[in-house]
Amino acid sequence: MDHLQAVRARLGQVRDPELGATLEELGMLGEVREESGTLVVDVALTTRACPLRATIERDVEDAARAAGVERVEVRTGVMDPAAKAALMDRARALAQRRAPSTSVPHGASVLMVASGKGGVGKSSLAAGLALALAEAGRVVGVLDADIWGFSLAALLDMREPVRVREGRMVPVARRVGAGEVRLLSMGQLAEDDAALLWRGLVVQKAVAQFIEDADWSGCDYLIIDTPPGTGDIHMTLARLLPQMGQLVITTPAAGAAAVAARAGDFARRSNLRVLGVIENMSPFTCEAGVRHAPFGEGGGERVARELGVDLLGQIPLNEDPDMLQGPLRASGEALAALAARLLDELAPRDLSGCSARLLERVEAALADSA
Ligand SMILES: Nc1ncnc2c1ncn2[C@@H]1O[C@H](COP(=O)(O)OP(=O)(O)OP(=O)(O)O)[C@@H](O)[C@H]1O
Ligand SMILES: [Mg+2]
Repeated sequence: MDHLQAVRARLGQVRDPELGATLEELGMLGEVREESGTLVVDVALTTRACPLRATIERDVEDAARAAGVERVEVRTGVMDPAAKAALMDRARALAQRRAPSTSVPHGASVLMVASGKGGVGKSSLAAGLALALAEAGRVVGVLDADIWGFSLAALLDMREPVRVREGRMVPVARRVGAGEVRLLSMGQLAEDDAALLWRGLVVQKAVAQFIEDADWSGCDYLIIDTPPGTGDIHMTLARLLPQMGQLVITTPAAGAAAVAARAGDFARRSNLRVLGVIENMSPFTCEAGVRHAPFGEGGGERVARELGVDLLGQIPLNEDPDMLQGPLRASGEALAALAARLLDELAPRDLSGCSARLLERVEAALADSA
């Protein structure tokens, strides 16, 4: 290996601190060459305004010096959208390879319901979507990751205590239509052996326990309700379930743009895919045929545009105060349409038969037989 190659190999090991992978793995390291006694290194960043630009430059310079180079110049450029998309795919795949193993089936679609904002209907939609997907014959796991503000046991009316089998928590199951909903929520943890399993545990660890020490086998979907914002709980989820996609919930209100920015930013930092935006509490038409828009209009569109994803559905505001028996059942049509779209576009991966998946299998088979 000549000197330049050796230096390049060393520089390739520099990590992108945000994406947690090396520049080489991420395809960010460009040409490395010598120009009149100076080592010139091309580094491609995802955006011009990359907040970590200075850190990456400094790390590359340090690595070059450690490899015995005296004069080094880092030239940063910006990736085109295709290269950027490829980078995100690579980062995601790397994160998945490093992820701890869980009982969540490989083929299951894991959907995190999130919003930077509280009270926008995350829990209601998580419950409503789970019911709608179960109606359509799917086995839907529901993880209430809102440890302090849990509400799913009440919303789904599934308050039976969680059982423990062979050291693992078994979600409470209920048949719904042709399918099943299986729930784990703090709201179900009574003073029995489940509580024993919890004794001495810090609440912060609860989410990890809900994933690592629970039996989610057999689920087609895992819907995860989260507390408002993007904090430790979201980070833990992203680390344990890197295959997870994010559904961003917003209301039509004007303040929604800030919500979007935060959710999108979190997703990027955690290599998560934003699957789409759902607008809740959207304008509705009353019995007298009058259209009402108490929360304004356009929030969902705006957030979707900002994140560069689709607005997957709009769930109208409903005046019935009785949750689930009320709002979401009455908004049932919009919810069913949303569920149908999720079934279509976010089908559990093993069932999707998409060409990328097939290609992957062919490649794996070829690699095995080589
Ligand atoms: N489409 C709707 N129409 C009318 N009321 C709704 C609708 N969706 C949710 N609600 C009501 O809004 C309130 C907040 O909903 P929910 O608890 O689901 O929000 P959240 O985002 O989970 O809140 P938090 O951030 O506190 O967890 C609840 O009282 C719920 O019944
Ligand atoms: Mg909630």
